[in-house]
Amino acid sequence: DIAALADLLNSRIRDVPDYPKPGVLFKDIAPLLADAEAFGALTRALAERAKELGATKVVGLEARGFVLAAPAAFAAGLGFVPIRKKGKLPGEVFQKSYDLEYGSATLEVQCDAFEPGEPVLVVDDVLATGGTIGASLDLVQQAGARLVGVVVLMELGFLDGRERLTPHLGGAPLDTL
Ligand code: PRP
Repeated sequence: DIAALADLLNSRIRDVPDYPKPGVLFKDIAPLLADAEAFGALTRALAERAKELGATKVVGLEARGFVLAAPAAFAAGLGFVPIRKKGKLPGEVFQKSYDLEYGSATLEVQCDAFEPGEPVLVVDDVLATGGTIGASLDLVQQAGARLVGVVVLMELGFLDGRERLTPHLGGAPLDTL
């Protein structure tokens, strides 16, 4: 069940104080990925959600989102699409910039990544401020796909990312495992 899954996943996420800078508590998913039981349970949960929502593609966000989304897509028998940081994808791309604490960042998706109206699930490891997922949802829409849901492994609730994302979701569910 969902509570047992959450306990298992929580038990495999390592808190690293003062990384990458003083005052930040980093959530390290390396122990989770290295544990076959936890990684398998996470992958199956994501694949199940993708099928439940009727997605035909699973979208992963660079870089840790790739590690979660690609095996989930495979397990569900679906295709995988990467959203990447600027300058990494060949050919025509859509771009979206978003604000960081200092400065800004730009994400890209290939213009031909989706069929028109194709149902997609977006997956990432962490929802923090919501900047990354918000920009990604805008790209999915711009590329002509239809968002059916977002799943993240964890959500840092105190940063209010969920509130910031609401206008980008268009009513699609946002689940945290
Ligand atoms: C981290 C994390 C999320 C994002 C969340 O990625 O993996 O994608 O930040 O933060 P936000 O909600 O405030 O946007 P990072 O940019 O560190 O990239 P990486 O996965 O390539 O290390």
